[in-house]
Amino acid sequence: MNIPSEVISRFETAMQAAQVAREPEPTAMSLATSSMDGGVSVRTVLLKDFDAKGFVFYTNTQSNKGKQLAKNPHAALCIFWKAIYRQVLVEGMVEPVTDAEADAYFSTRPRGSQIGAWASAQSQILENREVLEQRVGEFEQKFMGGDVPRPPHWSGYRLVPEMIEFWYGKESRLHDRFRFTLVGDEWVRQRLYP
Ligand SMILES: Cc1cc2nc3c(=O)[nH]c(=O)nc-3n(C[C@H](O)[C@H](O)[C@H](O)COP(=O)(O)O)c2cc1C
Repeated sequence: MNIPSEVISRFETAMQAAQVAREPEPTAMSLATSSMDGGVSVRTVLLKDFDAKGFVFYTNTQSNKGKQLAKNPHAALCIFWKAIYRQVLVEGMVEPVTDAEADAYFSTRPRGSQIGAWASAQSQILENREVLEQRVGEFEQKFMGGDVPRPPHWSGYRLVPEMIEFWYGKESRLHDRFRFTLVGDEWVRQRLYP
């Protein structure tokens, strides 16, 4: 079910305002995931694509978050733009992006990040920094003189929203909150008390 155009325009307007206000990391968002046994984890990821289908981020699919999402695709995002005092919350389920989408994005990344995606066994225990640097060197050697292909363990997820909330901070503390919830195949818009 596509995200309604009002939501898209509210999100794009806020993102642009955050960029104009020089928010240091405007695309940074907290991603909350959950394990099947009810544990909860949160960490920052970067928003790399946003459209009527959802919010896309990229990561190591064997990482802690990747393993959790494989078991339980429910996830939530929180973006807080300090510079403009606004927050967006998203809840829904993730879907893997297509290989073509992931390949296209991976090919735009700086070479150092591409090598890093091969060298880092994200979320595994690392004995010391030298081990990581040695692995970077090995992959630099391996791919020397050619393109770096996307590792099989590196891809993206699209969080397909079932709920999106916009929070507009006001100096009065009487903040505005608008929640859009997918009910059946209809998006319902409600104003919430702050
Ligand atoms: C500003 C910022 C942006 C980040 N962006 C990403 C990202 O896009 N993808 C990613 O896998 N990790 C990103 N990280 C690192 C994650 O927060 C996290 O440490 C890593 O993904 C491992 O998480 P996990 O062990 O829960 O899987 C970012 C961290 C920060 C502080």
